[in-house]
Amino acid sequence: MSKVDVLLGLQWGDEGKGKAVDFLAPKYDVVARFQGGPNAGHTLEFDGKKHVLHQIPSGIFHQEIKNVIGNGVVIDPIVFKKEIDELAPYNLDLKSSLILSNKAQLILPTHKLLDKALEISKGNEKIGSTLRGIGPTYQDKIGRHGLRIGDTIEADFESRYNRLKDQHLSILDRLGFEEEHEAAEREFFDSLDLIRSFQISSTEYFINDCISAGKKVLAEGAQGTLLDVDFGSYPFVTSSNTTTAGACAGLGIAPKRIDQVFGIFKAYCTRVGSGPFPTELFNEEGERLRKLGNEFGATTGRPRRCGWLDIPALNYSCMLNGVTQLFMMKADVLSGLDTVKICNAYSSNGKHTLEFPFIYSENYEPVNEAVEGWTLNAYDDYASLPSKLKEFIETIENKVETPISLISLGPDRKETVLKKI
Ligand code: IMP
Repeated sequence: MSKVDVLLGLQWGDEGKGKAVDFLAPKYDVVARFQGGPNAGHTLEFDGKKHVLHQIPSGIFHQEIKNVIGNGVVIDPIVFKKEIDELAPYNLDLKSSLILSNKAQLILPTHKLLDKALEISKGNEKIGSTLRGIGPTYQDKIGRHGLRIGDTIEADFESRYNRLKDQHLSILDRLGFEEEHEAAEREFFDSLDLIRSFQISSTEYFINDCISAGKKVLAEGAQGTLLDVDFGSYPFVTSSNTTTAGACAGLGIAPKRIDQVFGIFKAYCTRVGSGPFPTELFNEEGERLRKLGNEFGATTGRPRRCGWLDIPALNYSCMLNGVTQLFMMKADVLSGLDTVKICNAYSSNGKHTLEFPFIYSENYEPVNEAVEGWTLNAYDDYASLPSKLKEFIETIENKVETPISLISLGPDRKETVLKKI
């Protein structure tokens, strides 16, 4: 019996999970998404082409791999159809390689309106949601009146759809929010026809059968640990469990089946949307990271907030997920700096703490350490990287007590170096 490896983000999302999954995918038989939905934007670059996936797992470009959209995911059929259309030039046989869980929840057009209306009603307290309907869809799931992919083939689907839509319309009415949804509704039903033409099943059986047959499964996370609904900087979080535990619930895998947990982090930090960010830079250093790192949302195009690497947050994420190996992404973005900073602790009212706080406030200040920078030149392997970059890597490994086994030095598959652990 084989085991499942999990790959997930350790910061506030956008760590580069798409590239990492695409890089690892050839080692796996199955790649499975376990939470989130079209709020994600996983960017993959190869052969001079760039592709952004939102709901479809990042193993999709490898025809021999089965890609599963698990029960923990929320699916927008309209976005799904667009993603399928955008994959057309790659001539992939998606009907054989993509499998959808019958238990994944559906995002209705009115879920997106609710997302917008609820954000507006929050005023200055808004979450900065991607407005893809994520929160309201998970709310309906937990409230036990959501609709699932498997429901779309049932005879009473339309009447159940109308009942849920009417509930949404009455909430929207109470919020004083008016926006037409009829065009999106037509698109929604057209897109459902496409969804029904794919393999839909109880994917928890498929995945567990694969494990029993000795096949290798990679669970692909979305967003990041610090956006987890339980452990992130609540309420500025997404509405799902983005952690290893989420992989068990979102795919139907028993905890004892988990083996390696690959924790993905950027050599610095970014955050999109509202919420606390202790190492955020408001100066030209932050501007430089945004520019060189092209830190603009893959889903919404919003500029990302940028700051230095946050070790207490990274330690917290490693602890929650049981990370066994770290992948450091975008180390190239720091190239050319005289000094690079690392936050080792937070300072609050004169006291240092290493704990990710219950609520961050302005009272928290990062306690930064400056390390010497490096300039990246041509490289073949880990040994040929600049010595100061290797020192930076080893410093992080010591602080987080977890090995870094992969270093990404650019968006292309080829711009990747492996470090023996
Ligand atoms: P929602 O999940 O769209 O409701 O957004 C909730 C919060 O999570 C907002 O701050 C978003 O910007 C953030 N968020 C959601 N998905 C992603 C992602 O894939 N990458 C980075 N941030 C995300």
